[in-house]
Amino acid sequence: MSTQGKSVADRVMASVGGWLATHVELIFRIARNTLPILVVKYKGKRFALVTRFDDVAEVLGRPNVFDVIYAPKIRVIMDGDNIFLGMRDVEQATRDKTTMRMTAPRVEAMTRVKPEVTALAEAVVAKAASAGRVDLAMELTQDVTTRFFGKYFGTPGPDVKTLSDQARLLFQYMFADMADDPALDARARPVAAALRAYVEGAIAERKNARGIHDDILERCLQFQDLGLPGMDDRGIRNNMIGLIVGAMPQAPMLIPQLFDILLDRPRELAAAQAAARADDDVAVSRYVFEASRYYPLTPGLFRDATEDYRLAAGTWRSRTIPAGTRVMAATRSAMFDGRRVPKPSSFRVDRPDYTYMHFGAGMHECFGLYMNREMVPAICKAVLKRPGLRRAAGDAGRLKMDSIFPMSLVVEFDS
Ligand code: HEM
Repeated sequence: MSTQGKSVADRVMASVGGWLATHVELIFRIARNTLPILVVKYKGKRFALVTRFDDVAEVLGRPNVFDVIYAPKIRVIMDGDNIFLGMRDVEQATRDKTTMRMTAPRVEAMTRVKPEVTALAEAVVAKAASAGRVDLAMELTQDVTTRFFGKYFGTPGPDVKTLSDQARLLFQYMFADMADDPALDARARPVAAALRAYVEGAIAERKNARGIHDDILERCLQFQDLGLPGMDDRGIRNNMIGLIVGAMPQAPMLIPQLFDILLDRPRELAAAQAAARADDDVAVSRYVFEASRYYPLTPGLFRDATEDYRLAAGTWRSRTIPAGTRVMAATRSAMFDGRRVPKPSSFRVDRPDYTYMHFGAGMHECFGLYMNREMVPAICKAVLKRPGLRRAAGDAGRLKMDSIFPMSLVVEFDS
């Protein structure tokens, strides 16, 4: 029987979901060791939870068997169109990702992202120095990433708050709305329309001011001049919106979360601070991404099986994932799988890059991968350099979340 429109099964699932969320590490450990490929049926639909490193990598490495689930939401945001994030391994996906990669050459992670993000982050922390405290979420990371990417993309938005709020809502709609909440859909549609109108306006405006700016929008228009397929105004608009939603919300999620870990580990915090003060950027990066392993962006990435597929074939744990199954490739669990990640419970700064799945893997690996590797440590370093770094007293020093988004975590330091 149901009360208030919810069946007993729904309520049980909701409380199981809540419990799972707070015991995620334990659940993953049990799953990895007992049922590493777990397939269940709920309300006539199949779900699979994949928790071992090798199996997560296999799922993410088969983009045509395990298809990304984002296309329906992308079509709402892009007024009927799709972008490479929402596609299987088809020609258009390769074409568009290749073109967009050429608008943001890898070398600029070092020549542009790192110095400009460093300057912005240093300025925020310097401004906060008189008060001796800074909020790592909105005041620092959201501000820096929105300003930096607004300039680098050529789409600064009406103002920092409007653009970052729009990006965050659309990110939630696209990546974290598994239940297809009608209320969120109703909020997302007008925001998507406003962002489309803004980017269309930015493209039109830029056509009257060519050759002045050196940013991704200008480079897209240069490719349009050359007649590259996919670079008509609508294609540029869609890919720019993809970048805005893909780039702006994540560092402000990752950075407060990783500080929440570091601030509780005095030894590692001291070592990370020493590295920051010694300008040992490689070491800073290692501390930062290892801390993120304990509190990554997401527990996993979702895919839909398009055909029956035998996962981990030839092993005792192999299971057939039937077509139509929604699969969670638990990247967070994979990063703690001792079969591939030595001493997974230890905080170590000598792990090889391939240990980390912070930025996905396979065909849909993050477009901003190389930017992130410079941007995230650069923002953290500006804070880590400060002496006497600690949580602010009381509530302010606790990480506050609004669903999946860190909204504040205040730290204090000696000015
Ligand atoms: C700390 C920052 C970031 C994190 C943690 C992050 C994480 C991720 C992850 C996990 C994926 C894979 C999604 C999947 O496979 O389902 C992804 C894809 C993507 N990211 Fe990022 N990202 C970050 C920053 C950025 C930036 C700065 C940009 C743009 C400049 C960006 C643009 C994209 C795009 C366009 C995709 C889709 C790639 C494709 O489908 O081929 N991300 N990101």
